[in-house]
Amino acid sequence: MTVKDIFETMEYGPAPESAAEALAWLVDQGDRFGHFIDGHFTAPGDGFTSKNPANGEVLATLTQATQGDVNAAVTAARKAQPKWEKLGGHGRAKHLYAIARLLQKHARLFAVLETLDNGKPIRESRDIDVPLVQRHFYFHAGMAQLMDSELPDREAVGVCGQIIPWNFPLLMLAWKVAPALAMGNTVVLKPAEYTSLTALLFADICRKAGLPKGVVNVVTGDGAVGEMIVEHPDIDKIAFTGSTEVGRKIRQATAGSGKALTLELGGKSPYIVFDDADLDSAIEGLVDAIWFNQGQVCCAGSRLLVQEGIAGRFYDKLKVRMDKLRIGNPMDKCIDMGALADPVQLQTVRDMVEGCQDGEIHRVNAQLPAEGCFYPPTLITGLEPSHRLMQEEIFGPVLVSTTFRTPAEAVALANNSRYGLAATVWTENVNLALDIAPKLAAGVVWVNATNLFDAAAGFGGVRESGYGREGGWEGLQAYTKAKGGAKPIKPVLPYSGDRIDAEHVDRTAKLYIGGKQARPDGGYSRDVWSKSGKHLGEVPIASRKDIRNAVEAARGAAGWSKTTGHLRAQILYYIAENLSARADEFAQRIDSLSGHHGAKEVEASIRRLFTYAAWADKYDGQAKGVPIRGVALSMREPVGVIGAICPDEAPLLGLVSLMAPAIAMGNRVVLAASESMPLAATDFYQVLDTSDVPGGVVNILTGPPQDLAKTLAQHLDVDAVWSFSSSDISGLIERESAGNLKRSWVNNGMARDWMSSDGEGRAFLNAATEVKTIWVPYGE
Ligand code: NAI
Repeated sequence: MTVKDIFETMEYGPAPESAAEALAWLVDQGDRFGHFIDGHFTAPGDGFTSKNPANGEVLATLTQATQGDVNAAVTAARKAQPKWEKLGGHGRAKHLYAIARLLQKHARLFAVLETLDNGKPIRESRDIDVPLVQRHFYFHAGMAQLMDSELPDREAVGVCGQIIPWNFPLLMLAWKVAPALAMGNTVVLKPAEYTSLTALLFADICRKAGLPKGVVNVVTGDGAVGEMIVEHPDIDKIAFTGSTEVGRKIRQATAGSGKALTLELGGKSPYIVFDDADLDSAIEGLVDAIWFNQGQVCCAGSRLLVQEGIAGRFYDKLKVRMDKLRIGNPMDKCIDMGALADPVQLQTVRDMVEGCQDGEIHRVNAQLPAEGCFYPPTLITGLEPSHRLMQEEIFGPVLVSTTFRTPAEAVALANNSRYGLAATVWTENVNLALDIAPKLAAGVVWVNATNLFDAAAGFGGVRESGYGREGGWEGLQAYTKAKGGAKPIKPVLPYSGDRIDAEHVDRTAKLYIGGKQARPDGGYSRDVWSKSGKHLGEVPIASRKDIRNAVEAARGAAGWSKTTGHLRAQILYYIAENLSARADEFAQRIDSLSGHHGAKEVEASIRRLFTYAAWADKYDGQAKGVPIRGVALSMREPVGVIGAICPDEAPLLGLVSLMAPAIAMGNRVVLAASESMPLAATDFYQVLDTSDVPGGVVNILTGPPQDLAKTLAQHLDVDAVWSFSSSDISGLIERESAGNLKRSWVNNGMARDWMSSDGEGRAFLNAATEVKTIWVPYGE
């Protein structure tokens, strides 16, 4: 073969990486593994085998953790945590740095072991997974170092249970373990049952790095072990990456437990190609989007949307490129696609594609290895947007596609999904790309690139792709909590009484929906009594229909989310001004409701409105310096429609403390007023009416918090539910919000001091926003 021949065919011989050292490491461990608990490996017990999916060979035997093993791991993590935290940022930074160094020294061993265990091409594990893992530990060594100075009011959450999938076994470990350790937490990690070997090698590295005992614990096993971790009462936080179905179960299982939760779930990410795109680059991007890691990527660009005029040409080019992909032994440095992670996954992909009778299927006609979990790169065009394969995650090397005509149609198709993890936009027109990026319902958007990741840039989804961010400053939120112990909340029950003043003409309170006062649909009201037993009036009891109307009004006020921070600030100042004009009246109302502090509460409410007017145009994003030719913009977007159950102990200030940050950030709200003292809220809508707040931006309901919370949490058009009620409804909200995996922020029975800085600030702004990371080309 001449050099000319080689250039023409691009066929060159195999270049296999040696497996010898990784296999020798397995032999050194006796080919049988126990768990890594309290700084040492336990004796192997009953378990299961871990196989190489490329050839079916058994690599090692792993132990299925028992409840006793999980308990021992949690106990070790609990014992180690205070000392680890007290080590201080610099002390922990040194350990993370030591781990990063050892990861570099053993880089090839990790890459080979990962490829043997998972089936991904060695080129990817060597050049992508392992370098990103090292970067994550270096970056978070830095975060540990900076924690004391930069996050002085935050502390560790405690013991974290971390459950990870099999598609990026070591990388997902790094994404979870590095920030947790940096912030002073200890961890109990469960790798996926198909791919535990690099987690066990990592445990060995922790031992070599001299990490204190119990800081990192690794238990192996299947979903049953995951459930034991999720349900363990002595774990403070669960971090999960995996399927949406399991994520939903975990949300239900942890509801009401007080455990913090972050979920990184599935996706069906759109890959949008406009007619002015550099088509060859877009094709290469697509190779990375859907055939990287055999398509087993949560943010894979698995839904191709091509502008109609170029669709034929683009598909032709794509098929040519697909036919050139080399599929085979993952240990061969020359191949593009390896094996799927397990026969179960292979079967799932086969069933999904073979069950499809529609569209046109183009399967690469390559010679696949006779054995092993190989599946050919596949393209299915001409499917309806509602087709099962256009909506469901296939999690394999299968691309589905349809066409669009206009940018608006591209956005509509892209957002026609229950998921919202990532999106890719290809166009040479910077105006178009930057016009589209904010319109996409996705946590990550790549412009003229795809599948870019870095420790400095937040990653995570919206909608049923989960919540929480991994990476960057925003990723630390999940592994820290506000300093200072909160006190349990005292229930504030509605007062009762019998003193009805015949002279008193009571103004009938109504609901406030869509900028108008509305009579309750159900036609029920209830009495409101003062603390001293005097009849003050009646408030409506909102029915499910009223709640739905309020949500619809909030949905309809979507224009508010597009207004500028400057405009929202002016409206918040105006609300404050109008409240100030009626300060005495409100003070008296609060005095009559609660018996005290009226004037102080009104004054604090005016201040709070000023605070969020101040923040409205200042709580903005960041530009992240990532080590590629580009910049990652982390933009703060409103969450959408927030249902909020207001605090009982401060009827006006509590309502203002939830409403103001939410609307300052561009959300629309459905507020459930304090049940015990609702009249300050029902008076407040007269202030809103005179303050230029567009109809539907703020809706106020009255009624039993349990009923309001349940309907709001179940409602598919509500994006988040908050509760600071003194009623015990945190668990109810978390459980019911599992349906569409909406975000919830609840007090878990703990009190807040609304009069102090505890009742305002970044925690509220953070809950009111979602970080979208937009990667754009920049610089040389
Ligand atoms: P999975 O969600 O069942 O597995 C992920 C992890 O969760 C594993 O460690 C597993 O042992 C654990 N787990 C399973 N059931 C659990 C439970 N009830 N409680 C706690 N932990 C539990 O994913 P699976 O079944 O391996 O794959 C099924 C589909 O999920 C894939 O075809 C793909 O569509 C999706 N998936 C998405 C991933 C992502 O990164 N978004 C990663 C893995 C799978």
